[in-house]
Amino acid sequence: MKTIIETKRLILRPWHEKDAEALYKYASDPRVGLIAGWPPHTSIEHSREIIHTVLSNDEIYAVILKKTGEPIGSIGLIRNARTYSVAMGNSECEIGYWIGVPYWGQGLIPEAIGELLQHAFQDLPLNVVWCEYYDGNEQSRRVQEKTGFRYHHTETDKPCPMLNERRTVHFSKITKDEFLKKYARHK
Ligand SMILES: CC(C)(COP(=O)(O)OP(=O)(O)OC[C@H]1O[C@@H](n2cnc3c(N)ncnc32)[C@H](O)[C@@H]1OP(=O)(O)O)[C@@H](O)C(=O)NCCC(=O)NCCS
Repeated sequence: MKTIIETKRLILRPWHEKDAEALYKYASDPRVGLIAGWPPHTSIEHSREIIHTVLSNDEIYAVILKKTGEPIGSIGLIRNARTYSVAMGNSECEIGYWIGVPYWGQGLIPEAIGELLQHAFQDLPLNVVWCEYYDGNEQSRRVQEKTGFRYHHTETDKPCPMLNERRTVHFSKITKDEFLKKYARHK
């Protein structure tokens, strides 16, 4: 059975085919995907296909706003991510996230990250979660800073395969110990 995670304002649950319309509504906005390295969705059918091919992977969650029940973003843990120059071990993964433009600036993704890290370090055999952002994505850099990720290194001239571009990527990470310390302080 797939995991369902609850935060104060959100439910994180698997994506379903019936979410295609809501996914298209937010993922068709170029302000969401381009900065994160993927092209805007072009139709509801395209969004349905992404649900089947990408978002159906284990540990990828639809971000549901409790107040409305609507999927407004996505967050997930990705194993064996291929963009890292350092090979990720079995106890390491990468976190990725986005949220629809009308919901930016409400701290919703940091809220989701906190609970997903709790899940990663408590329920899964993980010791390190990596995160990355493309140069210039200040809002994602800020999210990583606020949620306890520490800057690790920068790589220049990296392929951004879905957009056929090359970009500078900044990497950060959080360890299980660091997360537990931060969490204890905030209790
Ligand atoms: C990055 C992203 C997930 C942040 O989610 P969020 O729930 O809005 O996060 P926060 O509310 O904590 O806001 C983070 C920062 O975004 C910036 N921000 C807030 N509202 C904004 C707005 N309307 N427009 C642009 N930036 C804004 C602020 O700098 C904020 O930092 P602050 O708390 O110090 O003010 C969201 O902006 C997004 O989906 N961006 C496009 C996809 C993306 O970049 N994904 C990550 C790829 S690495």
